Amino acid sequence: SAAEKGGHDYFMLKEIAEQPKAVADTLLGRIDGAGSLRLDEVRIPVGVLRQVDKVVIVACGTAFHAGLIAKYAIEHWTRIPCEVELASEFRYRDPILDQQTLVIAVSQSGETMDTLMALRHAREQGSKVLAICNTNGSTIPRESDAVLYTHAGPEVAVASTKAFLTQLVACYLVALYLGQVRGTKFADEIRDVVRDLSRMPGAVERVLGTMGPVRELARSLAGKGTVLFLGRHVGYPVALEGALKLKELAYMHAEGFAAGELKHGPIALIEEDLPVVVVVPSPRGRSVLHDKIVSNIQEIRARGARTIVIAEEGDEAVVPYADHLVRVPVTPTLLQPLVATVPLQVFACELATARGNEVDQPRNLAKSVTVE
Ligand code: G6P
Repeated sequence: SAAEKGGHDYFMLKEIAEQPKAVADTLLGRIDGAGSLRLDEVRIPVGVLRQVDKVVIVACGTAFHAGLIAKYAIEHWTRIPCEVELASEFRYRDPILDQQTLVIAVSQSGETMDTLMALRHAREQGSKVLAICNTNGSTIPRESDAVLYTHAGPEVAVASTKAFLTQLVACYLVALYLGQVRGTKFADEIRDVVRDLSRMPGAVERVLGTMGPVRELARSLAGKGTVLFLGRHVGYPVALEGALKLKELAYMHAEGFAAGELKHGPIALIEEDLPVVVVVPSPRGRSVLHDKIVSNIQEIRARGARTIVIAEEGDEAVVPYADHLVRVPVTPTLLQPLVATVPLQVFACELATARGNEVDQPRNLAKSVTVE
């Protein structure tokens, strides 16, 4: 009913709108007044966490994209090597696991069969498993050594939105916590990031307040067959997530690419008026990447692409090459996915609506895939 949807036409729109609160709730009580992480829920002894020499993240679908982003954060803040693997691929290839491997299973529902099977396999090899999950008491947290719950609240729409943002928050918290318990040379940076994380609910709210032009753009593209997404660094998994959302909801051909791979194939796809969404990293801090992606935008535009550029407020370098410019608030590089994903969710939802698709229940998909 309309009441259940909180006055929105679809659960997906309601859940997109709930993201600032979901992010805030997932941070709540987990950072103390001094800016230290308080993750007592992670009931894996600190002594064990100090011995971890490899992190392996397993997940499916949107949760897998959260895992891809987590890798950048975990390796940067902890210097522990981190692999991310689709749960469905993981246990069929005889992966290397032992007692010093920390496996993180990310799942909104806590019932995805492939993820469950992957964590069972990891525990059989003696690895510790930490679940990042949105559903209290579901199978994946019950079978794990510990769980960090995302507090997104129930997610009804099949396409994941607020659960994804809270998975990112949980992944950042785990990465920072591992850094904290192990003592890292990034202590100052960690303190700054903790402070920046607490500002993210407001940043997501700001993005939500500027989505009118994105919806209008989406409607104007309803007749298109293909949309490409490019990103780099943490913007690459954001591009993959933007493409997945469009497939799920709009039933369009959509692909995400690492912008650096453009010359190795994807650029051959560029033709007149092809919409290409580009997720641009902050010009501060990672300026080399920023320059490279600006040249990518120039290259595709010179070949006729219609460029839809997602860039930080104040990033003027992209302006001449953006046919459509979507601004997101300034954030540290690693946190940018929390704001950059939001326009892509709105874009896919609006395109689906314009194409007459069922937004909350896309054809052929299930919210929770409990078979292999
Ligand atoms: C299904 C859903 C996706 C979700 C994936 C993983 O395919 O439609 O939205 O990302 O499962 O689900 P999980 O519950 O494990 O996060």
